[in-house]
This record gives sequence, C-alpha cells and structure tokens, in this order.
Amino acid sequence: MLRREFLQLAGIAAASGALAPSAFADTAAASAATALPTPFDWALDIPTKSKEAYVAWMVKNRSEDAKFLGRRYDRYRALMNNRDIWDKQGERAFLMTPREEFCLKANWGHCYDSAFLDIGYGVTISGPHLVGRMTSTLNLTKGDNVLEVGTGSGYQSAYLAHLTDKVHTIEIIKPLAERTRATYDALIARGYDEFKNVSSKNADGYFGWEEAAPFDKIIVTCGIDHIPPPLLRQLKTGGIMVIPVGPPGAQHILKVVKTAGADGAVNVARSDIFGGKVIPFVPLAGGHQDEGDGQL
Ligand SMILES: C[S@@+](CC[C@H](N)C(=O)[O-])C[C@H]1O[C@@H](n2cnc3c(N)ncnc32)[C@H](O)[C@@H]1O
Repeated sequence: MLRREFLQLAGIAAASGALAPSAFADTAAASAATALPTPFDWALDIPTKSKEAYVAWMVKNRSEDAKFLGRRYDRYRALMNNRDIWDKQGERAFLMTPREEFCLKANWGHCYDSAFLDIGYGVTISGPHLVGRMTSTLNLTKGDNVLEVGTGSGYQSAYLAHLTDKVHTIEIIKPLAERTRATYDALIARGYDEFKNVSSKNADGYFGWEEAAPFDKIIVTCGIDHIPPPLLRQLKTGGIMVIPVGPPGAQHILKVVKTAGADGAVNVARSDIFGGKVIPFVPLAGGHQDEGDGQL
C-alpha cells in the first residue's frame, strides 16, 4: 500500500471514530474490543464501487480496521478482475469476511496477499483467489446445506457463512478444530452473528457428516486421489462438490455435479475449474489414498 493511501485510510478511520491504526500487529487485537454497530443481515448492501466508500462504511458499521479493509478491497478487485468471484453475493461475502481474524498474528502483514499461509500444525490457510474461485463454483444460495472438509483456520467456512445459513465443517486435527471453534465463538461474542451459521466438529471428513446430510454443496479443502464415496453419497442429486483430486502435491480442482439419469442411475460430471492447472493441496489425512472404487 502506498503511504498516501495508508494515510488516507487512517484518516477515514479517525474521522469515523474507529481505533487509530498503529503498529500493524496491534490492529486486529484492538478491534477485538469493539462491538459491531451493524450486525450482518442478508439484505445488507455494502458499497463496492470505491475503496474509500467501502472502507468508510465498514469502519462505521463493522468497527474493523481501515488498514486491513484497504487490503481486503484491493484483493477483492484482483479477484473480480481474475474472475475468481463473479456475482453480487460472492462480492459481499468476500468483503464481509475478516481474513485477518483467521491468520496467525505473525502473518497479519500478508493476510491479503495472493498466497497460502502457515496456520500451525503443519497446515495452511488457502490463498484468497483459490478460496474465491472454489466458493463461487458452488453457486450457493441462502438455505443451501453445505459441508466443508478441512476447517483449518476457519476462513473458508466464515466466507460460506455469508452465503448460506447452514454451514458444516470438519477438521481432523483436534487442537486445530478446538482453536478454530474458539475463534468463531470469540467473533460471535463480538457481534459476528453470521458465524452462528457454522457448525463444526473434529472428525475424519472422508466419511462426511451423516447426521447433517444430505448436502446441496460440498467443498473439500485438502487433496486426495479420488472422490470419497461417502461424500458422493451425502451429496444431493443435483448437488455440486468442489474437490482437489490427484496424486500427492499435484491436484486438479474439480467441480463435480451429481445427477440422476432417466433410469435412476447416478451420473457424475466433472470439470476442472482451473482449466488443467495443477494446484498442490495439503493432503487429506486418515490413510484413504487408493481407497477409491476406481471411478475417479
Ligand atoms: C489447506 S488446509 C484448509 C484450509 C481451510 N479451509 C481454511 O480456510 O483455512 C486443509 C485442512 O484439511 C484438514 N484435513 C486433512 N485431512 C482431513 C480429513 N480427513 N478430515 C478433515 N480435515 C482434514 C487439515 O488438517 C487442514 O486443516
């Protein structure tokens, strides 16, 4: 960010009564003390046309920090230009999700970079372009029942919570699942009511979430060499799954659409949402490689 832009954003923050931006590392912690003046609502129409209008609106209505907001807006423009987000709901979801809250403090300076970042436990938060395109591909509408396999930092499900009111997420690493649950609960306590839409649990997501199924949409954020049959079974007919499929370190991100033929047989149509580009993912743990039934 240019110094001129930084000062401009700092001015907006000061003028609207937000916490003064100080050292970068203080900002998210400082905003933690402030309740949200305007709770999330499905009818919220946030300004998107200019960075200044967006930042001013968010500072006033959400008490977030202008420096993070400026970076979030710049990344949003890049996502739109790259066709990683392509609809109004997706724009709002990205712009409303405080990615900094799901990144390690040590990475706050990079949380809106186009990069995956370490979140501890040997795993990462995926980069914003990847999260944007995978989420947009799900074509979510409010009321959709969605499952995420691989909660990690919680950012992906936080983003989903602005698109539908039924989000289920599973994380296999117990202390990480607990830490992320605590992050959601702390944000809910600060007024982020939308995160009440997220149900989370510590389990092996290969087997899905039987009691919460069937799902309209499923997003898998760890890589595997086949589509887990339990996930395909728990996906509704007509449903969409987005999943990184391929050998370790070399996945293709597939959009999988489940349909039923006239004879009732299940059909699975697959397409590569990055046009053939190889995208390495954190592996799906639990020892399920080679467990596929040979279909994928
Ligand atoms: C690339 S990270 C996902 C990032 C995450 N979606 C976010 O927003 O931060 C992949 C996550 O999948 C988790 N994972 C791996 N295998 C899993 C499994 N079998 N079931 C559930 N989670 C799993 C990892 O522990 C890791 O947290």
